[in-house]
Amino acid sequence: MTNLPVSAPLRQRPVWAQLEAHFQKLKSLHLKQLFAQDPKRGEKFALEAAGIYLDYSKNRITDETLSLLLQLAQESGLRAQIDAMFRGDAINVSEKRAVLHTALRAPRDATILHEGRNVVPDVHAVLDRMSDFSNRVRSGDWKGHSGKRIRNVINIGIGGSDLGPVMAYEALKHYSDRAMTFRFVSNVDGTDFSEAVCDLDPAETLFIVSSKTFTTLETMANAQSARAWMMAQLKGDEAGIAKHFVAVSTNAAEVTKFGIDTANMFGFWDWVGGRYSMDSAIGLSTMLAIGPENFRAMLGGFHEMDEHFRTAPFDQNLPALMGLLSLWYNNFFGAQTVAVLPYQQYLKRFPAYLQQLTMESNGKHVTIEGAHVDYDTGPIYWGEPGTNGQHSFYQLIHQGTRLIPCDFIAFARNLNPLGRHQDMLVANVFAQTEALAFGKTVEEVKAEGTPDWLVPHRLFEGNRPSNTLMLETLTPAALGKLVALYEHSVFTQGVIWQIDSFDQWGVELGKVLAQRILPQLESANEPKLDHDSSTNALIQRYRKLKSTSKEG
Ligand code: F6P
Repeated sequence: MTNLPVSAPLRQRPVWAQLEAHFQKLKSLHLKQLFAQDPKRGEKFALEAAGIYLDYSKNRITDETLSLLLQLAQESGLRAQIDAMFRGDAINVSEKRAVLHTALRAPRDATILHEGRNVVPDVHAVLDRMSDFSNRVRSGDWKGHSGKRIRNVINIGIGGSDLGPVMAYEALKHYSDRAMTFRFVSNVDGTDFSEAVCDLDPAETLFIVSSKTFTTLETMANAQSARAWMMAQLKGDEAGIAKHFVAVSTNAAEVTKFGIDTANMFGFWDWVGGRYSMDSAIGLSTMLAIGPENFRAMLGGFHEMDEHFRTAPFDQNLPALMGLLSLWYNNFFGAQTVAVLPYQQYLKRFPAYLQQLTMESNGKHVTIEGAHVDYDTGPIYWGEPGTNGQHSFYQLIHQGTRLIPCDFIAFARNLNPLGRHQDMLVANVFAQTEALAFGKTVEEVKAEGTPDWLVPHRLFEGNRPSNTLMLETLTPAALGKLVALYEHSVFTQGVIWQIDSFDQWGVELGKVLAQRILPQLESANEPKLDHDSSTNALIQRYRKLKSTSKEG
């Protein structure tokens, strides 16, 4: 078991009271004043590590804020908890598990012990098998049952077994084999599967069934449909399944039960959480798309950020600082959301990926010890790639009544240089953060000749905080660094909130109820319903509509 830090409840700590008092003084200060007071603020509140530049100067903070937040991190035992995570202690307390996703990207010669066994050789053995398999598929050496080469890869999975693979495929499409088609099926809605396969030849298609548990309802339903689709092509020849299905799982028994030979299974371990698994065998589709070398470069990026987080002092530590800033708005300003705004089309699924990472990790209402928290925990993460959002929801960020801290993500070099596009894109990043921070005063609006009645509508109050992350190019390594940055920022916040960031009990109840309701929807006879009156009525209405639409 882990050595949990023995510390007082969060809000009873003197440093929390100091932060509250400090917030009262600071809340009326405008970023304009803060910048005016210190002409070097833009350089001072900035940090570069592992190839990522973070400008956090447009946050509503002073030196005192930072020093109190850093004190909070120290007193919360962040250092000891980082060590405990990297060491493999069972810090996922409610599931009694170690949290060792950092071992997935450790170099071959590293030693990381889990229950006395060095897991690094196991990790690299799987990576080597994945590489060999990927090379065979990509070269055409691995063929489908009819002898045709594999041109289509479909990953079937959900949650962490889908969002990471989809995001990484989209993010690294530039590096992918364009002669191959990659698709991702996650939703139990039959449309997802049907649309994914409708134009594909089964003889050229490989399914990767990705599921840590291999029991997840959606994934198993989609995998069965995939099997039926394939069997129709194979004319019932079961032997062909081995050429068209591989599995990624921790559960060899269930994989075998499904009919996939464990020779075609790529394993991982219960110390890898679903939402922390895109760099495990769950990333097989990524490796097939971009090749083993690029996949290993991505792991290298993850590892570089891991090392930075593990070793850098907190005032020089990107994930720790980002976590503390997020907590500052969440717990003191009462901000309920964080917008993640990548100015990079390839990162279009990054906000969706971060939603599981952040919200499944830190959407918790009890502490590790089971006490109800008396402060807010994980904020809502959301976002869209720039510049699209500017023509939709940015209105609310600029002039709405809510405070929405934003993370802007920009790259210096575009992988698809096209005329002035890249400079136009980045000009928009800088313009947005400037506008959010400094706004436009009544005087400035009037000076433009705006009639008095229109002035309030055209006023920008400013003082809206943002971080700007800048990287050179979206390479596989850069993606690894970026993901690890957010992973560790989530961890930092979870430690301070004293919650278990690595369980996800909140998804269980709905799953169980769905299993109970399903037969009530399917039964030929009118079922005896004993739900609440709303659920009963909805079930009855659905059954009726379903039967009349059949008749129609
Ligand atoms: O929805 C809960 C969850 O357990 C996620 O944490 C996980 O990523 C997802 O389901 C998929 O689980 P599995 O990989 O076991 O199919």
